[in-house]
Amino acid sequence: MSRGPHPDSIPDAARTKEARPLLEVRNLKTHFTTRSPFFGRSRGVVRAVDGVSLEVRRGETLGLVGESGCGKTTLARSILRLVEPTEGELHFDGEPILTMKGERMRRLRRKCQIIFQDPAASLNPRMEVGAAVDEVLRVHGLGGNARGRKGRVASLLEQVGLHPEHRHRFPHELSGGQRQRIAIARALAAEPELIVCDEPVSALDVSVQAQILNLLVRLQEELELAYLFIAHDLRVVGHLSHRIAVMYLGRIVEEAPAEVLLQEPRHPYTQALLSAAPALTGEEGKRRGSRIVLAGEPPSPVTPPEGCPFHPRCWHPDRDEACGRVVPGLKEDGKARRVSCIKLETTSKDSS
Ligand SMILES: Nc1ncnc2c1ncn2[C@@H]1O[C@H](COP(=O)(O)OP(=O)(O)O)[C@@H](O)[C@H]1O
Ligand SMILES: [Mg+2]
Repeated sequence: MSRGPHPDSIPDAARTKEARPLLEVRNLKTHFTTRSPFFGRSRGVVRAVDGVSLEVRRGETLGLVGESGCGKTTLARSILRLVEPTEGELHFDGEPILTMKGERMRRLRRKCQIIFQDPAASLNPRMEVGAAVDEVLRVHGLGGNARGRKGRVASLLEQVGLHPEHRHRFPHELSGGQRQRIAIARALAAEPELIVCDEPVSALDVSVQAQILNLLVRLQEELELAYLFIAHDLRVVGHLSHRIAVMYLGRIVEEAPAEVLLQEPRHPYTQALLSAAPALTGEEGKRRGSRIVLAGEPPSPVTPPEGCPFHPRCWHPDRDEACGRVVPGLKEDGKARRVSCIKLETTSKDSS
């Protein structure tokens, strides 16, 4: 079901300059201050992203999964500085993103593209889709003169599985899947190295979802793209990720190579997510046992729990008062896995 480790993945110690991560996120926090509509006074802080660290390497897909509201979109937008992070560090190809200005920021905005769940929202309803792709070429000074760009638009449409004649259509004349193909063509027009895909298939029919996912995989192989691929559905992420990170209430609770995470999830939250994924039945389902049903809803990011953010809903038999006191760090466990749980730190020395 998953793609296994990326061929270029190498241990930290062996990293050369060329092999450094394309995107590095270090202890990133993005908090929103909400104000009372009546008094205009500061009322609360939404800790949407609350200390996330992750890396995306060239040509690989990092899947990011978590329930609605856990901070995935805020993280995606923070990486491109569509929203300003509160704290932490971001590096793209070794360069700090948070202090970028002018030409460097424009280069980042070209090299790092984002695709949203609803392609209609990023397309001008009054613009033919060919012109919408051409606009990206013009903004970035790519594709040469008008004739050169026309040829480039035609080949981009073909690359995403559309007919060159589609360029004269308006967004409302296309299906949801075709609109998402146009959004992908626009992203590709910028010649990116990384595409942040924020739930790109969540709004599509299941049959169309598979086509778009296959297209993304093919494009990755052809163009050596890296993806940060966000979804709330573990099945979708499992399908195309080399590694998977699981997010809960603004933090990463577990991250591992896709195979490892899907076959042997360790964090009680990951185990619950997997046990609820309907496609994961049969042998895999039997081995994991019965479905884990979590009590209640995730807590509000305005008032996150003390200690482990998951402890109020944790079903693990070892949970105790320490879980409500100690903030767990993300610790390596020997299978290129990082897991954030104080009970797993102390109860398992060896997981190989
Ligand atoms: N601009 C904003 N102002 C205040 N709160 C926000 C804003 N954007 C998102 N949030 C809150 O941050 C949390 C995370 O939201 P989001 O990043 O959209 O999560 P996800 O994409 O995982 O569903 C939610 O509680 C959401 O209500
Ligand atoms: Mg979202």
